[in-house]
Amino acid sequence: MSQECLNDTDDLGMLKYKGTYFINDLTSVEWLDFIDNLEIRDSDVFLVTYPKSGTIWSQQILSLIFNEGHLRGTESIDNINRVPWIEYNMCNMDFDTRPSPRLFSSHLPYYLMPKDFRNHRCKTIYVYRNPKDVMLSFYHFHKILKGFKKQRSWEEFIDMFMSGKVFAGLWSDHVRGWYTNKKDLDILFITYEEMIKDLRSSVIKISRFVDKMLNDETVDIIVEKATFQNMRHDPLANYTFLSPNNFDFNKGSFLRKGTVGDWKNMMTVAQSEKFDQMFQDKLKVLPIKIFWDID
Ligand code: A3P
Repeated sequence: MSQECLNDTDDLGMLKYKGTYFINDLTSVEWLDFIDNLEIRDSDVFLVTYPKSGTIWSQQILSLIFNEGHLRGTESIDNINRVPWIEYNMCNMDFDTRPSPRLFSSHLPYYLMPKDFRNHRCKTIYVYRNPKDVMLSFYHFHKILKGFKKQRSWEEFIDMFMSGKVFAGLWSDHVRGWYTNKKDLDILFITYEEMIKDLRSSVIKISRFVDKMLNDETVDIIVEKATFQNMRHDPLANYTFLSPNNFDFNKGSFLRKGTVGDWKNMMTVAQSEKFDQMFQDKLKVLPIKIFWDID
């Protein structure tokens, strides 16, 4: 399969593969073909998100739930080695020789998950977030992404986001793809806002879902290590370990504000209404609330 020409999106640093955009510098058609044939194990645990929905936060929580070594601070393994991405093999890991249970992160839409994923009922945690906050976080994220050559205005970025010309594709397609297949999956849906509102309960919810019974003290340690402030200063969790060839951390950071409703500081009433109209139409088949804040 050859890389499709992106025409008007040539300077965005994206690779289009089977209908979905990926960060070009971090993956390849060969790698995406390879992971399509990855052998899945029943014990695998997948953390799936649309970009900017709280992925690295959830990576931190999930890896701490599974790995007491990190709780004691005795290991020096960064987040992407603890919960590696499947579509972006930034740590050159041999997935086949990894001991079980393997934890994976992914922004893949459901239809691009490895073929064998459908033959197993592995645990999947799907974290989703108010798409207006996702869009704003995504806008800022492009400032640090070096492959994204020309910064777009906020207005232009809204058009990109609403037409799905961003990596991982259209937000509503991603959510719908995972949500409409939930009956075939062992999946937990949890929102970023829920995690902000009550981090401790969210940690317990995720740990119970993955059948890890934690004592109160362990939960306390995980919560402490997963707060925005602590993660921001934790070099193993804040993604500043990523290559300076791909990211310019002088222009921003993965942990930016970590709040709910920041979109209200950026979107005009007209932009917000247009956004509501489009995504409400696209997701009206789903029994989930589409626009939410904290309540
Ligand atoms: P903002 O840009 O709104 O601050 P992802 O990991 O999927 O790329 O998502 C990034 C978003 O999650 C950023 O949102 C980031 O600040 C937020 N985030 C990361 N860690 C967090 C934490 N511990 N608590 C709250 N938000 C966090």
